[in-house]
Amino acid sequence: MSKARVLDHPLVDCHLTNLRKKQTPPSAFRHSVAELSKILAYFASADFPTTASAIETPIQGMQGTAILGRVGLIPIMRAGISMVEPVLGLIPEAEVWHLGLYRDEQTALPVHYYSKLPDSAPVDVALILDPMLATGGSATLACEQMRDWGVSKIKLLSIIAAPEGIQKVNSEFPDVEIHACVVDEKLNEDNFIVPGLGDAGDRIFNTLH
Ligand code: PRP
Repeated sequence: MSKARVLDHPLVDCHLTNLRKKQTPPSAFRHSVAELSKILAYFASADFPTTASAIETPIQGMQGTAILGRVGLIPIMRAGISMVEPVLGLIPEAEVWHLGLYRDEQTALPVHYYSKLPDSAPVDVALILDPMLATGGSATLACEQMRDWGVSKIKLLSIIAAPEGIQKVNSEFPDVEIHACVVDEKLNEDNFIVPGLGDAGDRIFNTLH
């Protein structure tokens, strides 16, 4: 059985509706991507370890809270870039390591074209950011790169996911947590998510023409 943590909230559904509507302009599309990215990151970070840190309020001293360990945001270019700023707003101390992957239009297989990952010193937890999980080819390649870097805790944040993609990530990386706003019905013959929202990258960056 495929496993993903899926959000169930009326505001999430409203933003998803905005993303799905074909007449939604890029600015409004980016806005909903940003809101949903924050919500995904909020839930995906619920188990982050914390440490107490002494602080002074204007009134007195007390123990505050700080995140323990290094958090890495791994946006998959292009579309994942749109999720970086909103998630950084929530986790300002996170590091951002970019991965460039695109899906070949004929084969639907991921093509790797850029990586900013260092050879050593992996982050403690990696949040892979990509609005779409379709066949799962891009996500599993990103997970592979995280594993090769030495990351022990990997979480995948996708706004919209297909069952096929969840299944692939689950079977190849059973320890990777998948967080999605919604799981759609299926992939069509062109490997597009149905009913879906089209191509997130093109709609975010206004390159549909
Ligand atoms: C889309 C999407 C994912 C990938 C999902 O990117 O943002 O990265 O496809 O498909 P998969 O699960 O079948 O691998 P795309 O290849 O369109 O590149 P882009 O972000 O540059 O538009």
